[in-house]
Amino acid sequence: SDILPLGPLPRLIGHRGAARHAPENTLAGIRMAAAQGAKWVEVDVKLTADLVPVLMHDDTLDRTTDGTGPAKDMTLDALRALDAGSWFSPAFRGEKVPTLVEVIQLVLALNLGINLEIKPCPGREEETAGVALTLAYSLWPDDRPPPLVSSFADASLDMARQVVPRWPLGYLIDRRPPNWRQRVEALDVSTINVNARREDAASIREYKSTGRPVLAYTVNTVPMAREVLGWGVSSVFTDTPSGLAGIAG
Ligand code: G3P
Ligand code: MG
Repeated sequence: SDILPLGPLPRLIGHRGAARHAPENTLAGIRMAAAQGAKWVEVDVKLTADLVPVLMHDDTLDRTTDGTGPAKDMTLDALRALDAGSWFSPAFRGEKVPTLVEVIQLVLALNLGINLEIKPCPGREEETAGVALTLAYSLWPDDRPPPLVSSFADASLDMARQVVPRWPLGYLIDRRPPNWRQRVEALDVSTINVNARREDAASIREYKSTGRPVLAYTVNTVPMAREVLGWGVSSVFTDTPSGLAGIAG
């Protein structure tokens, strides 16, 4: 196929940056992941009210900023006035919700790989993938392995395949849907990204029988990492790259 190859998959991928050590989905979190030796980071991408792609996991601002209410109603200017660090620790006071542009510039500067998880607010599945990936594609250099693009949202992943036809996709699931094989083939995904807590050695073998590497979230202890990697998983998403340094490589 015409799909670009993934760069080499590292065993550890920093989850939301390094979510145990720095506020999730911030530039400080991405820097922390890199400082802890992570070669890739995973981040969650959604749109502001004025259609600017930013990093945020939840549909609402409440947990990860000093604001409240739905993220989809906030303009970029209003969002940028919020503090996205103090909720985590006073050491991160003043940290902002980053734009996708800032994030891409930072991962390029730090030479990190990135998994862009499209995390649309409800009803914005297609436009979130469309806007975010059009922008990401315009910024990404040809001489670097492309981002891995994933989403739990079927409509976002379908849109991703249209907007960035040559970029690798990750089929991201929690509970395995009955039509998973059909989706994997139809989208020609490059990886299958699963919830470690819902899988076992046999289910990982089934995913791998499609010829694709399997990535598993979220793995925060060395024993769990050893078990999951022992099932044949290629990479684990972790909140603590430093805590899993023993299994990095
Ligand atoms: O993409 C892997 C993982 O981040 C999916 O779950 O809720 O942490 O975005 P969540
Ligand atoms: Mg995520």
